[in-house]
Amino acid sequence: MSEFVRICAKADLPQTGEAREIVAGDKVLCLANVDGGISAMDNICPIARSARPGMIEGSKVICPWHAWAFDVKTGAAEHTPMARVDVYEVKIEGDDVLAKL
Ligand code: FES
Repeated sequence: MSEFVRICAKADLPQTGEAREIVAGDKVLCLANVDGGISAMDNICPIARSARPGMIEGSKVICPWHAWAFDVKTGAAEHTPMARVDVYEVKIEGDDVLAKL
């Protein structure tokens, strides 16, 4: 059963229009800031299973290896929606960022 766990400090969040990789327990996550909204998704691309530092384009995180675009809310790849990464609910409590992992 998933539950909210602290994944980083609020001060560690990416700036608007940026993404950042963090390690939370056994997961490697991509935190993305799209217009001030924070999302968290697995940072392991389903194409090559490699970690990918995210770049933001609109509401998508772009994998730098083959440029697949993943929606920050659904985790679905833009041109192949059946390919997706897991996304996690995020909330901020005080100075802590929590995700439902
Ligand atoms: S490894 Fe991510 S799109 Fe190819």
